[in-house]
Amino acid sequence: MFQRRRLPWPVEPAFTLPMSNPLRLGILGSGKGSNMVAIADAISRGDVPARIVTVISDVESAGILDHARSRGFPAQFIAPGKFRTKLDEDAERAYIDALKAAEVDLVVLAGFMRILKGEFLRLFEQRVINIHPSLLPAFPGLAAWKQALDYGVKFAGCTVHYVDQGVDTGPIIAQTAVPVVDGDTATTLHERIQLAERSLYPRVVAAMARDQIKVSGRSTAGLP
Ligand code: GRF
Repeated sequence: MFQRRRLPWPVEPAFTLPMSNPLRLGILGSGKGSNMVAIADAISRGDVPARIVTVISDVESAGILDHARSRGFPAQFIAPGKFRTKLDEDAERAYIDALKAAEVDLVVLAGFMRILKGEFLRLFEQRVINIHPSLLPAFPGLAAWKQALDYGVKFAGCTVHYVDQGVDTGPIIAQTAVPVVDGDTATTLHERIQLAERSLYPRVVAAMARDQIKVSGRSTAGLP
């Protein structure tokens, strides 16, 4: 039987999706899919009580779709519509319909390069998480590792957070710091941040699947 779980952040959702066990993941990505692969591998090892029930990309040739298909996950390209940085209204509806049809509990953004807005976030309130390659709130937006390097920080890193209406502004669930070392280039730093991501993201999904993450306002707790 489905167990209903509600997080207190931030307000009464428009409706509550049931959470299942194992947790049903819908993964959205635009790129090569290394985070999706890391989550899939962690599930296969038995470390994450979840199932990937759909993978969707706004880029027809994205590597994430190839990785998904080669692992036997339902995977599809859904055209994003006429805008460059967000989904247009028809596309948003198509994404929502696909995720609902797959009975997704948690939407996992893994390099999805579109901002999600109103109706999508209303329907999946508290059910959308993202990984960002910086220690938020520092360096939101694009090429965050390069922003960090150019700024001269000594620690870069990655952040898993809930997705809200802003860009990289939702409550932080977990972070990993990655030291900047002498001689780092944007490429070498990015590679080490991505290694950290591939360890952090499956741990967060596992904790969410086990209902260990507790949210109070902007504060979250519970990652083992
Ligand atoms: C990751 O570095 C993530 O931080 C950012 O997009 C990248 C996606 O990489 N949001 P991949 O497609 O998971 O390999």
